[in-house]
Amino acid sequence: MRSAERLKTSLADDERYRLLIDAITDYAIYMLDPDGVVTSWNPGAQRFKGYAAPEVIGSHFSRFYIDEDRKAGLPARALRISASEGKFEGEGWRVRKDGRRFWAHVVIDPIRAPDGGLIGFAKITRDLSERKAAEMLLRQSEQQFRLLVQGVTDYAIYMLDPEGRVNSWNSGAERIKQYRADEIIGAHFSQFYTEKERQKGEPHLVLETARREGRVEKEGWRVRKDGTRFWAHVVIDPIRDDTGAIIGFAKITRDITERRDMQRALDQARETLFQSQKMDAIGQLTGGIAHDFNNLLMAILGSLELVGKRLPEDPRIAPLIDNAIQAAQRGTALTQRMLAFARRQDLDLEPVDVPTLVRGMTDLLQRSLGPSIPIETRFPLLLGPVHADANQLEMALLNLVLNARDAMPDGGAIVIAAREENMPAGSMDGLKPGRYVCLSVSDTGEGMDKATLARAMEPFFTTKGVGRGTGLGLSMVHGMTEQSGGRFVLKSRMNEGTTAELWLPLAKAAKVPREAERASKEAAAPTRPLLVLAVDDDGLVLMNTTLMLEELGHTVLEAGSAKQALDILRREPTVDLVITDHAMPHMTGVQLAATIREERPDLPIILATGYAELPPGSETDLPKLAKPFRQRDLMQAVAAVFPG
Ligand SMILES: Nc1ncnc2c1ncn2[C@@H]1O[C@H](COP(=O)(O)OP(=O)(O)OP(=O)(O)O)[C@@H](O)[C@H]1O
Ligand SMILES: [Mg+2]
Repeated sequence: MRSAERLKTSLADDERYRLLIDAITDYAIYMLDPDGVVTSWNPGAQRFKGYAAPEVIGSHFSRFYIDEDRKAGLPARALRISASEGKFEGEGWRVRKDGRRFWAHVVIDPIRAPDGGLIGFAKITRDLSERKAAEMLLRQSEQQFRLLVQGVTDYAIYMLDPEGRVNSWNSGAERIKQYRADEIIGAHFSQFYTEKERQKGEPHLVLETARREGRVEKEGWRVRKDGTRFWAHVVIDPIRDDTGAIIGFAKITRDITERRDMQRALDQARETLFQSQKMDAIGQLTGGIAHDFNNLLMAILGSLELVGKRLPEDPRIAPLIDNAIQAAQRGTALTQRMLAFARRQDLDLEPVDVPTLVRGMTDLLQRSLGPSIPIETRFPLLLGPVHADANQLEMALLNLVLNARDAMPDGGAIVIAAREENMPAGSMDGLKPGRYVCLSVSDTGEGMDKATLARAMEPFFTTKGVGRGTGLGLSMVHGMTEQSGGRFVLKSRMNEGTTAELWLPLAKAAKVPREAERASKEAAAPTRPLLVLAVDDDGLVLMNTTLMLEELGHTVLEAGSAKQALDILRREPTVDLVITDHAMPHMTGVQLAATIREERPDLPIILATGYAELPPGSETDLPKLAKPFRQRDLMQAVAAVFPG
């Protein structure tokens, strides 16, 4: 290449460089002579520093420094370093023409002639004010964020490295999990899991899922440092760098044990309410049906008894009638249990001594069990009497013991126990605060699964197959205890036996009727012929009562309503006794009795009721006859009013 061309090329190169430097507005690029006097100036320099080229070329570059730095000799030092080390680089405050400061990044390179002599310096300055401000802001916000995360105490917020080791820890984590940061950082997070979950590989699985799906939300048991457990709500998010690689996990854990407990209590309360409403509804239905059947059975039974007596002895007929009577009696027993469930039984509540009552029926119990199932009793030396109906309580115990027997086909043991307990308010659903006796029957039988246990007290619920169980045993026990002001509680687990608990209120009165007295109540003696007024709105029942009374040698006047009864009484002053139904339209038996009392205070009245239909508060002292009654019951009731 010829020299002229080379010169042209190099000129063109110089021109290109100048154009390039003039085009740069983001960097101040200018030259200093060896003493630091400005010898060139580009638009970038003009933009940052505010001076136009003519204003500044020829002046010393130290004018761009702030006063302190100038006084400290920084400009000269920068040039010295650049010259001796080949480069100076630094950051610092610089001043614009208008006096405002900016944060500058500065590089100063020495420019040397081919012989090595210093010609001057190239200076490149960048305005980093914005970046500096952004950095400060970032640092500030990072610090604030750290303080924020640190200060949160309701959530454990911490980070895991990709392998699951803890690498940060906040005060919430310390509060919930009980480890201090220095105890736990570096440890694997699987130590917060229960042994079982660890064995299942749950911690590993959770991170895998977070890796794959981006986020995991779970609830489960976690373990604190002291080994106690809490129910945790956990969220895990993977943290990725700019390239998408996972650099760790963010983990937020909340202790929601309390909330969970509350939710469970609420569910439980709802379930209890639902159960009790269901039982009430079934009770209404059962009670209604049983009431009507009771009257029908009474008519059937009464008529059959009379037919049996009036027909001439005939071996072809007598067994049939006996059969019919037995069937009707079984029907009566069923309706009695249904009424008991519906809490519509006529309970004869009195103080009952439980150990005495149980001892009195040991023979009966042991006989119904057979020798392969021994009964053990456990009573404390001192046990107050309960407020209950002794006969019904015996029935209940018998039902429970028979259930226990059925649950132990291969033998086992039954324990009947009792203990006195004080029950403060709220200790058992629906139980008034006070002192109770808990009478329990436990067996070592097959127990019940949850579904069976939940329905066991429902009337007609049985697992014993058609013809073997009526499903009314526990219903009866349930209704009877509730009606006595107590509670019936069943506890059972599959293959772990069953415990049935009767919670009965402690009797206030101290006097307990003796067995002998109870027996004497039931003793019957024939009565002299009487003139009896029988009152019932049910024609069938009325006819039945009349026939029975006539059989017993009495004379009967019939009334289909209370009003009719009053009319007859006013006409017939010689009536000896009134036997009246209670539930009648217009005027009830109790109201009728009150009216009669006003006119004839001495006239005995017997109230025949199918169930505890007397509204609370209207308890009467009238002698009662439970429907359906048989001739013998009627005879006893009359005998009680007219002894001997
Ligand atoms: N001790 C017990 N162990 C295991 N299951 C029981 C026990 N007691 C009751 N059950 C279950 O509860 C159901 C209902 O009992 P319940 O006494 O009301 O009726 P039942 O015994 O089936 O019939 P019934 O009492 O008329 O003979 C039973 O069929 C049985 O499944
Ligand atoms: Mg039973």
